[in-house]
Amino acid sequence: MPSADGFNQQSSINNSRLKNWPFQFRYIDPKMKSESQVIVRPARNVRGSVSLPGDKSISHRYAMLAAIANGPSRLENYSTGADCASTLGCLRSLGVKWERKDGADNVIEVQGTGLSLTAPSEPLDCGNSGSTIRMLSGIVAGQKFSSEMTGDASLSRRPMQRVITPLTAMGAQITSESGFPPLRITGAKLKSIHYRMPVASAQVKTCLLFAGLLAEGETHIEEPLRTRDHGEIALRAFGAHLERKGNEVRIRGGQRLRGIEARVPGDLSSAAFFLCAAGLFPGAQLTVTNLLMNPTRARLLDILAQMGLRISVTQLDEVHGELVGTLQVEGGRMKGATIAGADTAALIDEIPVLAALAPYTEQGIEIRDAKELRVKESDRIASMAINLRAMGAEVEEREDGLKIPGAQPLRGTELESFGDHRIAMAFSIAALRAQGETLIRGSECAAISYPEFFSTLESLVER
Ligand code: S3P
Repeated sequence: MPSADGFNQQSSINNSRLKNWPFQFRYIDPKMKSESQVIVRPARNVRGSVSLPGDKSISHRYAMLAAIANGPSRLENYSTGADCASTLGCLRSLGVKWERKDGADNVIEVQGTGLSLTAPSEPLDCGNSGSTIRMLSGIVAGQKFSSEMTGDASLSRRPMQRVITPLTAMGAQITSESGFPPLRITGAKLKSIHYRMPVASAQVKTCLLFAGLLAEGETHIEEPLRTRDHGEIALRAFGAHLERKGNEVRIRGGQRLRGIEARVPGDLSSAAFFLCAAGLFPGAQLTVTNLLMNPTRARLLDILAQMGLRISVTQLDEVHGELVGTLQVEGGRMKGATIAGADTAALIDEIPVLAALAPYTEQGIEIRDAKELRVKESDRIASMAINLRAMGAEVEEREDGLKIPGAQPLRGTELESFGDHRIAMAFSIAALRAQGETLIRGSECAAISYPEFFSTLESLVER
């Protein structure tokens, strides 16, 4: 096979040149749609220390609020993922000036424009990012101009009625492809609403809080289950006043925001892959520094601790309202778990990697009430079931979840990422204890949230 620029074209997992490489990327003509694949070899242990790039959820929110604040903001450890770059790209199209500072710390400086943005001359490209299209639509809906929000093929299949209905009730005019992107939004002077969200979604809640900030009067949003509260915390950090009562949050329109200087805590959903990798090996020892520990995101730590991972928090601080800490983790025997109801909502992004860990646990993992996973970057219930079965596991697939028995050995094979970053990364973890090598097609999609994932994983595993 020809090789170019260090990439080796590769057609088979049995290629003998691969044997000493942990990962191997297939080279495809760069002018064509690029697609890479990764090979993950089994490991003996996980050991080391890691600090994660900034949390994706917080990075999106800080960038959007910095854009509509008065004055400059400086955001350190901004997410390195392509999704958060999509948010920055849209903000630039909306007339916001921002720049990346040189150096290793992923610093973004944003010049806030105040609550009014500038009409974009072209559609806002949200890429693969549901957070960008849903949360930014709340800001765009309150502007004096019309705009179009588009995205890639996966985003174009994701439901948007959940933001269209309440934003329309607030006075925006929105047309779509039967509730799917692209969204054409004609902004308006928004009116406040009292809205009870039918779906538990932090993206929708944040969208409506942003719209509420631009509306006349006080907006009340009630969520069916408590979802991540980064929108509320970020709004307060930028100087807004909000009230919460139980599952309802209220925001008064017209409040002015001020820019902030902040360091984004490390992404807990990205750390989840390494924490679950530690769960695969009784001798694992892992330290995670500068990690987001917000209680609405940290349910994974409780679940892994209940299952048998020994986790201690050795330092805890609060930064702009977000808890940030250092974790020491030691592997142990992993029991099983049932994840249902409010836990499912709290763990929604971590379920793929928990599913990948499940066959190696003693009793297995059952996931219920997870219908939302069918409308993520891929149909994650189907993606998980297909890949687990390909690795030889027995799995029961249900409309709203999976039952994965424990004590099942897995074998390495060829898997699809389904273009879904969390599926690509989750099955790299399953591969660490499989028999033989695992090839994951389309592994480049990990860059949606965590471009450094494969090299960091490689630095933590022992073979
Ligand atoms: C997110 C909320 C969740 C999550 C997504 C990020 C957020 O989506 O899956 O990765 O930042 O608010 P939903 O709001 O659709 O549940």
